[in-house]
Amino acid sequence: MSMTLEQVKDKLEKYGQQHLLKYYDELTQEQKQALLEQIEITDMSILEACHHREEMAQKGVITPLAAMQLSEIEANKESFTATGLEAIRGGKVGAVLLAGGMGTRLGSDDPKGMYNVGLTRNLYIFECLINNLMDVVKQAGAWIHLFVMTSDKNHEATVTFLNEHNFFGYSAEYIHFFKQEMAAATDYEGKIYLEEKGKLSTSPNGNGGWFISLKNAGLLDMVHQEGIEWINVFAVDNVLQRIADPCFIGATIQKNCVVGSKVVRKSAPDEKVGVMCLEDGRPSIVEYYELTEEMMHAKDANGDPAYNFGVILNYLFKEKDLEKMMASLPLHIVEKKIPYLDENGELVKPETPNGYKFESLVLDMIHQLDSCLPFEVVRSKEFAPIKNKTGVDSVDSARLLLVENGVVL
Ligand code: UTP
Repeated sequence: MSMTLEQVKDKLEKYGQQHLLKYYDELTQEQKQALLEQIEITDMSILEACHHREEMAQKGVITPLAAMQLSEIEANKESFTATGLEAIRGGKVGAVLLAGGMGTRLGSDDPKGMYNVGLTRNLYIFECLINNLMDVVKQAGAWIHLFVMTSDKNHEATVTFLNEHNFFGYSAEYIHFFKQEMAAATDYEGKIYLEEKGKLSTSPNGNGGWFISLKNAGLLDMVHQEGIEWINVFAVDNVLQRIADPCFIGATIQKNCVVGSKVVRKSAPDEKVGVMCLEDGRPSIVEYYELTEEMMHAKDANGDPAYNFGVILNYLFKEKDLEKMMASLPLHIVEKKIPYLDENGELVKPETPNGYKFESLVLDMIHQLDSCLPFEVVRSKEFAPIKNKTGVDSVDSARLLLVENGVVL
């Protein structure tokens, strides 16, 4: 049952969003219908939160959480790897590629995974990731189900691209796509922008929605049928990361943790990465801008920095425990550049942030789980994120790291 125009007007009035019907009379019948439907399904109750951004960011009491460091990993490598390979061969491991983001900082209109980092040949970001996963498939002698999360904004392009490239040699049977949900984007007053006369500005609702979206897409049934117990969630932009890494999987299983998190040693106390910690005694991640001066320089019992391991968005979740997670994830209200119609109805693509997007983040899942193993990896071998075109965490820096690791560009 869809809402009538009157009901839509009531909803808009309730949330102070009447401006969304500004061009209603100019629209075709079809566009009118689409707009009313979009308004109906948009959750406007969350928007008010943008007036309370600071209170929402309150954290609990932060204390250190020790990471498993390279020396310990090296000493147990064979045993961890054997445990991980056994889980993979038993079909117990799946992977989720988070590729629903807009990659606005990179500034390409295509999905980020379609970006070509090659210089003398084509080498796409998706291809790098699949190559990395294929290493494990070969080592284990078993395929690993790969779930790819997209959004309304990039689904078609992503699916078409991967199909055209025959999934870069991956078995099509083991690749599954699902779409995440969208959320409205607003100006600084919490008023939703229009991106067309008959369309609200929306953006993907953050990478924290992956589990719900996987479920809504019916893929959780498949996860159960296939007997997948562990899910390695990873970002699209780190071209060096090891995916479904047997040693990491084995370590998490042997340590009896319900989530593992790959971490790198910070390059400096004030490096801009989220750091693993305990918050009110539970595993958590403290963002770099939440780290106090005191925490930055705090030392552990060995005299090493106590908050020294940054997350790289590569987590291994025990699937059963995700199902037990009851509380909804906190909202992050992030300043972003949002294309919008100005007073004259012209589309503007702003150069600087002009409003808020509403997102939930995968890192907040950690705090709802009972135990987490921070697992150290060598930064120069496993961390080459592509956020920007040049400078820090860019195409340029990732290319240097790829070459250093023997990848021909
Ligand atoms: P980022 O926050 O770095 O990516 O997300 P972004 O939003 O695409 O980039 P900018 O800020 O606009 O430049 C880290 C990972 O989470 C995924 C991204 O695709 C990336 O793999 N992500 C992000 C989603 O899957 N969905 C989202 O809604 C947001």
